[in-house]
Amino acid sequence: MKKDFLAISDWTREELEEIFALAADLKNKQKSGEPHHLLSGKTLGMIFEKSSTRTRVSFEVGMFQLGGSALFLSSGNTQLGRGEPIKDTARVLSRYVDGIMIRTFAQQNIDDMAQWAGVPVINGLSDLLHPCQIMADLLTVIENRPSFTDLTYCWIGDGNNMANSWINAARVFGFELRLATPKGYQPDPIILERAMADGARIFLTDDPFEAADKAHVLNTDVWASMGQEEEQKKREKAFQNFQINREILQVADPDCIVLHCLPAHRGEEITDEVIEGPRSKVFDEAENRLHVQKAIMVTLMR
Ligand code: CP
Ligand code: NVA
Repeated sequence: MKKDFLAISDWTREELEEIFALAADLKNKQKSGEPHHLLSGKTLGMIFEKSSTRTRVSFEVGMFQLGGSALFLSSGNTQLGRGEPIKDTARVLSRYVDGIMIRTFAQQNIDDMAQWAGVPVINGLSDLLHPCQIMADLLTVIENRPSFTDLTYCWIGDGNNMANSWINAARVFGFELRLATPKGYQPDPIILERAMADGARIFLTDDPFEAADKAHVLNTDVWASMGQEEEQKKREKAFQNFQINREILQVADPDCIVLHCLPAHRGEEITDEVIEGPRSKVFDEAENRLHVQKAIMVTLMR
C-alpha cells in the first residue's frame, strides 16, 4: 500500500529515525559528489497554492539530484485554480507522476489529495501543519547534539502550523516541548489533546521567559502566516513580547541553538542580532530541507 507524508504523527519513531539516517547519508553523498540516483526516471508533481522559496527549490533540486525531475504546478496556472476538484486532479496526476507534493491552505485539501491519489502525497505546508520543516529542524538538532530526544525544546510565538507540527514531534519522540503563545493564539486543540492523551510532555504558557528557561532549542516563526496578512497590525500588538532576542537567550541553555523556518521578520519574532549570531542555525536548517526531503521522497517513491 502506498504511504504518504502528511503529518509527523502518522509515522513511528523508528521510521522517522530511518529517514534521518538516510538524510545524513544522502547529505554526505551530495557533499562528496557521489551520485545517488535513487529515483532515476521518476517525477514529482509539486502543487503550490501559496508562495514558497525553500520548499519549491529544495524539492525540485532534490528530485534532480536523485536522478528524477519535478514539475511546478501553481494553482493559478492549472485547472485547480478554476475549480477542478482535488479528487479529479489527484487521479489524473497519479497517471503521470510518481509522487505529489502539495502546499495549500486547508489540511483537508491535502488529506483529500492523499485519499484520491494513487501515488504518495507529501504535505508541503497547510494552515495546520508543516511536517517537512520539522524534519529539517530535527535533523539540524541531531547534527548539533549527541541526543536530540533528551533536550528541552521551546517554541515562542504563534500556535501555528509549525507549532502544531512540533507538538506532533514531541508526541512521537517524547522530548519536552514548552510553548509560549499569547492568549487566543494557542496551538490546535485537537492536535494538543491527542498528544497529551498519548503522554506527550508539553507545557503551555504565555510567558516566553518561562518557556525558554534552560531550553536547548529555541524556535519561532512569523507572527502572521501566509493568508493572515490582514491581521498583521492586530498580531503585532498581541505578539510584541514574543520575540527571540538577547534577553531570552540569557535564560536559555548557554549552548542552545536557535531555529527559524524562514522567511523571518527581523525585529518582530526574532532580532537581527540573534538570527545572525553564533547560536543561530537557520541556514543549516534551511539547507536540511533538501537532505531530509530527499530521504522522504526515497522512502515513499523508490
Ligand atoms: N520554510 C519554508 O517552508 O519556506 P518557504 O515558504 O520559502 O518554502
Ligand atoms: N507559518 C508560516 C510558515 C512559512 C514557512 C506560514 O504558514 O506562512
